[in-house]
Amino acid sequence: MSAIRAAISGIGAWVPEDRLTNADLEAMVATSAEWIVSRTGIHERRILREPGCGASYMAIKAVEELLGRAQISALEVDGLIVTTVTPDHKFPSTASLVCGALGLGRAFAFDLNATCSGFLYALEVGRRFIESGAYRRIIVVSSEMMSSITDYRDRSSCILFGDGAAAVLLEPSRRFGIEDIMLGCDGAGAKNIIVRGGGSALPLTAENLDEGLQYFWQDGTVVFKHAVQSMEAACAGILARNNLGADDVRWAVAHQANLRIITSVAQRLKLPPEKMLENVQTRGNTSSASVPLCLYDHREALAPGDRVLLTAFGSGYTWGSALLTWGADLPPDRA
Ligand code: UT7
Repeated sequence: MSAIRAAISGIGAWVPEDRLTNADLEAMVATSAEWIVSRTGIHERRILREPGCGASYMAIKAVEELLGRAQISALEVDGLIVTTVTPDHKFPSTASLVCGALGLGRAFAFDLNATCSGFLYALEVGRRFIESGAYRRIIVVSSEMMSSITDYRDRSSCILFGDGAAAVLLEPSRRFGIEDIMLGCDGAGAKNIIVRGGGSALPLTAENLDEGLQYFWQDGTVVFKHAVQSMEAACAGILARNNLGADDVRWAVAHQANLRIITSVAQRLKLPPEKMLENVQTRGNTSSASVPLCLYDHREALAPGDRVLLTAFGSGYTWGSALLTWGADLPPDRA
């Protein structure tokens, strides 16, 4: 009898209606649509502008869609993990807000922050709950309002980010699901992508607000190099550990930070462009939401039995890779 795995048995997502185009950015900072497209591949991003709304607003909508599509009621959910670097508040957790709003009355709920690699970290945690046999339905929802930490005076970073959320349901399966996950972290990179102010080390003051310390900052060139190297190593490592090669992979999703990074990773791994799923062109970098949002946007292409390779890299540094077989063992009434 094969072991119990955690399979992605449902997916949902939500992005705001409002688009921030390269033409809009040309009117805001000294940039050009040509520079943005050639250096990043990004044409537009979605921005959440509803007053008073944050990551929980988008997460709730993504989970609502997921529950509807998966035909699962709120009380059938055992646990909820929210990944975000842009929580509504320092506390309570964004997961608590989502849980309360949706009436997930039987679920435990917590936030997990592993920056842009958060979805892969949460998949690893969530799948262990399922594999243990203790829980049957875990939701991982990644929701990011990157516009809330973006400095729209900084042309090198404000062109990159978008807002959005995507959610997956994990359920036990004997035929499909997550085969392996590899995660990593190197705190030596912490200073290179950071929101410096607003935490316990540097609480916000009127002075440091003026300096913009509440916003995302990165050394883009250094981060670019590490992103390529780390995602390549994470993918090569997980394939080798499972005796697989690029030919065994049907689809690959890399963190949607920059098309040049994705292309470089694919070339180094000898993954042909047609296997690379992308949405950075229309979503920008949505941090931890980027991998599940990309899966969602390409869900029509994914067929049961397809082997999918996921990889991400983010502040920390953190990185990871996952190998899974798409599909789920669904009861006849939900098939
Ligand atoms: O999600 C977390 C992980 N993050 C990442 O993976 C992001 C990694 N980094 C990147 O994606 C890229 O480094 C950026 C897109 C941020 C920047 O691209 P780059 O090719 O590394 O450009 P650069 O920073 O080396 O800048 C090249 C030039 C500079 O001008 P000079 O010094 O050569 O005269 C910049 O001032 O481009 C200039 N520049 C711009 N020009 C027009 C920087 N931003 C812009 C802009 N428009 N928006």
